[in-house]
Amino acid sequence: MAIDMELEEVLRPQQYPMMPYPPKVITLANGNKMVVRQAQREEVPAILQGVLPCLFIPRDYYDIVSARLYGELLAWYRYRVKSEYCLIGQIDGYLVGAVNGRLENEKVGMSYHTLAIDRGLRIGSHLFAAKMEYHMEYLNQDEVLIVAESPIGFRRWMIEYPLEATKIPHELGGGDSYRLTREIYFNAKPRLVVGDRPVPPDLLAKAEEEVLIVDEDIIREKISGLKGR
Ligand SMILES: CC(C)(COP(=O)(O)OP(=O)(O)OC[C@H]1O[C@@H](n2cnc3c(N)ncnc32)[C@H](O)[C@@H]1OP(=O)(O)O)[C@@H](O)C(=O)NCCC(=O)NCCS
Repeated sequence: MAIDMELEEVLRPQQYPMMPYPPKVITLANGNKMVVRQAQREEVPAILQGVLPCLFIPRDYYDIVSARLYGELLAWYRYRVKSEYCLIGQIDGYLVGAVNGRLENEKVGMSYHTLAIDRGLRIGSHLFAAKMEYHMEYLNQDEVLIVAESPIGFRRWMIEYPLEATKIPHELGGGDSYRLTREIYFNAKPRLVVGDRPVPPDLLAKAEEEVLIVDEDIIREKISGLKGR
């Protein structure tokens, strides 16, 4: 199907220039090395394959979070959202988690979602920290607006940082936003933001070669706690 580029110019929202997120490597509690890097738009179809099985797991709100993440990534892929980005975590090339968000304007960031596909290793916590690092240290923003959809998310972000409650509505339409300010970020950074740069070239090359997706049954088992770490 031919794309009408004249119409696309109207349908495609404005994009702010965004400095790329420099990749890093995090050694997890079990010794595995997770590469955290910015996904490219062309990688979205592969990432969606890893998100899809989570849509059918009600436990810990995986269903709603992954359904929304799926839609948001598709919107980015199809140029229907303003200034979105996605960071992914990979172990040996395999997708183990994803975070996304966007720029509301040059100073205010809008956090979307965090999804940990492997569990018990604080993968979600590390990826959320990477997303805050991106907004604060590389996009130089003043604040990020955040809501939680799950009790685990509330514990990890609102309580662990801790974030500041506001009366500002969030674009996801849930409870009012909580806010990460620069001061909160830099106070939390020594406790929560980890990782080493540069990523050794072999690890980075493996991650960038292809986003590999763990077998669907294994994803379900890991998330539901039927399989050990
Ligand atoms: C919220 C989330 C990103 C946090 O990821 P995380 O930091 O890697 O944390 P985990 O999910 O592995 O673990 C959370 C807790 O549940 C426990 N847990 C639950 N199911 C587990 C399982 N199958 N295997 C191991 N641990 C499990 C962990 O031990 C951990 O306990 P702790 O808080 O005392 O450390 C992740 O739980 C997730 O993707 N949830 C669904 C989507 C969601 O809620 N996103 C956030 C929206 S605000």
